[in-house]
Amino acid sequence: MKNITFINNKFVKHSNAKISIEDRGFLFADSIYELISVFDNNAIDTDQHLDRLESSLKEIKIKYKFNKNKFKKVFEKLIKVNNVINGYIYIQITRGVAERKHEFPKNYSPTTIVFTKHLNIDKKIYKNGVKIITIEDLRWLRRDIKSTSLLPNILSKQIAVEKNAFESWLIDDGVITEGSSSNAWIITNSNTIITHPANNKILKGVTRETLIKILKKNNFKIKEKPFNLIEAKNAKEAFLTSSTLSVLPVVKIDNYNISNGKPGDVTKKIINLYNDYIFKNKSSISKELKIA
Ligand code: PDD
Repeated sequence: MKNITFINNKFVKHSNAKISIEDRGFLFADSIYELISVFDNNAIDTDQHLDRLESSLKEIKIKYKFNKNKFKKVFEKLIKVNNVINGYIYIQITRGVAERKHEFPKNYSPTTIVFTKHLNIDKKIYKNGVKIITIEDLRWLRRDIKSTSLLPNILSKQIAVEKNAFESWLIDDGVITEGSSSNAWIITNSNTIITHPANNKILKGVTRETLIKILKKNNFKIKEKPFNLIEAKNAKEAFLTSSTLSVLPVVKIDNYNISNGKPGDVTKKIINLYNDYIFKNKSSISKELKIA
């Protein structure tokens, strides 16, 4: 199967896509990224991801000739040549190659890479739900920037995996901010859906934003406000969202069962609404994925 990657304006064989060991992305994580899901050959919420990419570039002050349409053409080409049916597009932009000094180089040309991956997510996790653990949020205070500086995220995910959990939810100042690579949600006994407000303490997930719109349109009660561990454990239901996972039920928090340890009805409805959004013109697949 063909695997073509875009690197600095060229399409090359994935195995030939190489960057310098002096790239600031490699040396300092002086770099930002995006991940766009592909379902049934379609990139999901491309505009929103590209807007966030542009905003991350601005926030870390990388001078870049940003061209949305050019990115879209690159994505289309990669999906086609790599025959990505279900998977994702990964984009990373670094401040480029320079002598290793912390301050920005005077002149630099940013490194851009775009590659695709196939993904086959086990449907069982949607049927059964997943267990998460909670852990202290050790990250910096600009979590709204989609930076590749992800050490606290990967360390907390690793602890989750070692405890046979799917994800870790991070606690900052007594409040659950988000997951190590996803946004966190609870549903109260009065059916109010709660997620942390989009500020510097979380990544404003594209899936989160899309879902909020879908929920409001469908008259769900939704509140963007912080919630703590006690509220999470007492919740009627819980779930997480991300581009690769869409909406995934959470049924256990730190060994404490949520909604009897099974995905709840409201979460199932939400999954179906989100899947309908993704597959709006592809009803056959939408039906296949329905779990309620
Ligand atoms: N992670 N919060 C964090 C810390 C994340 O890393 C992610 C996504 C999200 C959800 O954002 P979105 O809905 O835009 O995917 C929230 C991606 C998938 C990753 O790094 O693999």
